[in-house]
Amino acid sequence: MDKRNIIAGNWKMYKTPKETEDFIKEITPKVSKARALVYIAPPFVCLPAALRAKPGSNFLIGAQNMHDELEGAFTGEISIKMLKSMNVDFVILGHSERRHVFKEDDAFINRKVLTAIKENLQLILCIGETLEQRENNQTDEVLESQILKGLKNVTPQDMENVILAYEPVWAIGTGKTATPQMAETAHCHIRKLLIKHFDKNIANQTNILYGGSVKPQNVSDLLNQENIEGVLVGGASLDVNSFAEIVNKG
Ligand code: 13P
Repeated sequence: MDKRNIIAGNWKMYKTPKETEDFIKEITPKVSKARALVYIAPPFVCLPAALRAKPGSNFLIGAQNMHDELEGAFTGEISIKMLKSMNVDFVILGHSERRHVFKEDDAFINRKVLTAIKENLQLILCIGETLEQRENNQTDEVLESQILKGLKNVTPQDMENVILAYEPVWAIGTGKTATPQMAETAHCHIRKLLIKHFDKNIANQTNILYGGSVKPQNVSDLLNQENIEGVLVGGASLDVNSFAEIVNKG
């Protein structure tokens, strides 16, 4: 199977438009021979700069979040209509910081998923357990519940536009990476859930990314696992050299 890995950078609340443009121009020649697909999600206000700098690269540029309504009185929010008018390529939904810091629940995330699908925008749905849930042996059931609720009313055909990212909350920004074996076990469980709720073809066609303290030093071991087809990188995606190294190992 020649499925390509996806190496995605989630910049969170870092970088200005100028820094974004400089970053993309600087990294483009360093990753020109990469086999992996490269996704970058800068902050909303940096999207125009990223899209301006993109020609000449193969990068896909996306947003870190969006609202589920097309427009309305939602102060501080961004709609898919706005994102699509700028030609963004994808959106990240249900990131653990949205779930835990901003208290987004599965129902809200599912509405966003359905909006992205309806409007034909590729999405990365993030799932993952907290440390407490892992210690209470609830990882499998948390993942199943987040998948069932997050992908409610999503059809097998819709899955063409869906990427999943397993990000154990305890590994994000902490320097504690799940071991490749721990990540593989979770990814295997996620694949089985996709077989159960859709079918084997859908499960095999869906890229499942790992996220949580991914670095140039650990990315190869993670990507060598059978069920890991990419990574979602936070901190290490902010530096041109470290992100280029990760991309080139993909
Ligand atoms: P870190 O790579 O900084 O742990 O962040 C992971 C993440 O949240 C990517 O979405």
